Parts: sequence; structure tokens; C-alpha cells
Amino acid sequence: MDKKLAEEMIELAIGQLQYSYTPYSGFKVGAALLTKDGKFYTGCNIENAAFTPTNCAERTAFFKAVSEGEREFRAICIVGGKDGILTEYAAPCGVCRQVMMEFCDPETFQIILATGKEQYEIFTLKELLPQGFGPTNLA
Ligand code: THU
Repeated sequence: MDKKLAEEMIELAIGQLQYSYTPYSGFKVGAALLTKDGKFYTGCNIENAAFTPTNCAERTAFFKAVSEGEREFRAICIVGGKDGILTEYAAPCGVCRQVMMEFCDPETFQIILATGKEQYEIFTLKELLPQGFGPTNLA
């Protein structure tokens, strides 16, 4: 992943913070997902008064993409923070890591965690979900 592409994804993810619906936690998350053929799908977290229906930003992006027919992904960028202020990396929750495991190669899928365009780190899915359980386990 070159720096220009990473920065583009960070900008897209930050742009999602304005749509994040968080009346309960105030913790705003934005995500930008890149398909293998170069298309972007964005997402924000969407909370709910009943709490458990809350959807994370990463899953919003994945479900938008999968529901449009996408099946192959290269990378996702995630940003987040209380009141939308980015001070620390917002790492994906376990459920979102598992959703990534369904559609992504853990060895190559890249997860960009950022607090700004100049401050980011890139991890593979395997680094964030070692020994993950995925479709190949059922093959
Ligand atoms: N959240 C995400 O959007 N992604 C994650 O991976 C972690 C948590 C959201 C869910 C909820 O709206 C808020 O952050 C606090 O948990």
C-alpha cells in the first residue's frame, strides 16, 4: 500500500465521522473499505436505543459492499474517537475482525489504523486475528 492510497483512505474514513450516529456512547467511528478492483465503500457506526442492534463502522462498510455484489477486498481504514476526536487508534472489535475473516485473506488484507493523514499504522488481518476461524475451516 503506497502512502498516497493510505492517505486517500484516511480522508474517506474521517469524512464518515460526520454521519456516525452515536447518541449513547458519543464514540464516533468511520471506515473506508477498498475492493481488489479499486472501489471504495464507506461506513460509520450506527447506534440503537436497544444497544445490541448497534452496527460498527467496519461492518456498515462491509455490508454495503457485499450487498452490492463485492466479494474481494484489499484493505480497510478505520478512525474513531470520543466525540469524533482522533487521539488513539480505533482497532476493530472482535465481531468486525470475524466479518473480515469471512471475506478477506488474513495474510494479505490490510487494516489501516489512523489518527490523521500523517499518523497511521498498517496491520494484516492475521496480525489482528491470529488463528482465525474462516470459510476454509468448513471446506
Ligand atoms: N465501534 C465501531 O464502530 N467499530 C469498532 O470496531 C468498535 C466499536 C462503535 C460501536 C459503538 O457505536 C461505539 O463504537 C462504542 O462501542
